[in-house]
Amino acid sequence: MKPYLIAPSILSADLARLGKDVETVLKCGADVIHFDVMDNHYVPNLTFGPAVCKALRDYGIQAPIDVHLMVKPVDRIIPDFAKAGATYITFHPEASEHIDRTLQLIRDCGCKSGLVFNPATPLSYLDYVMDKVDVILLMSVNPGFGGQSFIPATLEKLKQARKIIDDSGLDIRLEVDGGVKTNNIAKIAAAGADMFVAGSAIFDQPDYQKVIAEMRNELAK
Ligand code: DX5
Ligand code: ZN
Repeated sequence: MKPYLIAPSILSADLARLGKDVETVLKCGADVIHFDVMDNHYVPNLTFGPAVCKALRDYGIQAPIDVHLMVKPVDRIIPDFAKAGATYITFHPEASEHIDRTLQLIRDCGCKSGLVFNPATPLSYLDYVMDKVDVILLMSVNPGFGGQSFIPATLEKLKQARKIIDDSGLDIRLEVDGGVKTNNIAKIAAAGADMFVAGSAIFDQPDYQKVIAEMRNELAK
């Protein structure tokens, strides 16, 4: 199992002071910045695009940026995010016309590629493309908003995804997104996740260092 990664979602950050807030959360122990891209079409909300990703890089943010695309269509925005400094780019298979091509496009642009599974999306989308995937992201809420509750059925799905990864022998991260808190992160890790997105659980607290330390403490149990 690879070292655990904690990825605060900037959806819940102070958007008027984004650079500063991201800098602070990294100093407080975050590993990766989770960047939620919503288009008010694939999901019923609207966030930020490549210009904001580039602005974070220009501000001096060097940590990996995990771009979670909740947009349709997906392909045309991928090169822009790669140029803007994305490290990971993940997308929902339902939003792509050609899943294999989109995964290949992400890698051709020099980024790590991943598929995102909504709570009711079957893992069978992984069949035939495992060799093109660097991260598998399981949504534990329906995409579109921060602050929702973790859907318990995700735990069983995480176990299945963990088995698929282990059986493949490939170097693939298992990420979980939605409703991750200090009080459930240990259970989520036990089910097989190794990368944890947390938006409201971190940014809604005054002391990011304290909550990230608490999460690491739970993960060490
Ligand atoms: C939801 C987003 C999540 C969201 C998580 O569509 O993909 O990344 O920010 O927020 P919390 O951790 O508050 O559930
Ligand atoms: Zn997300």
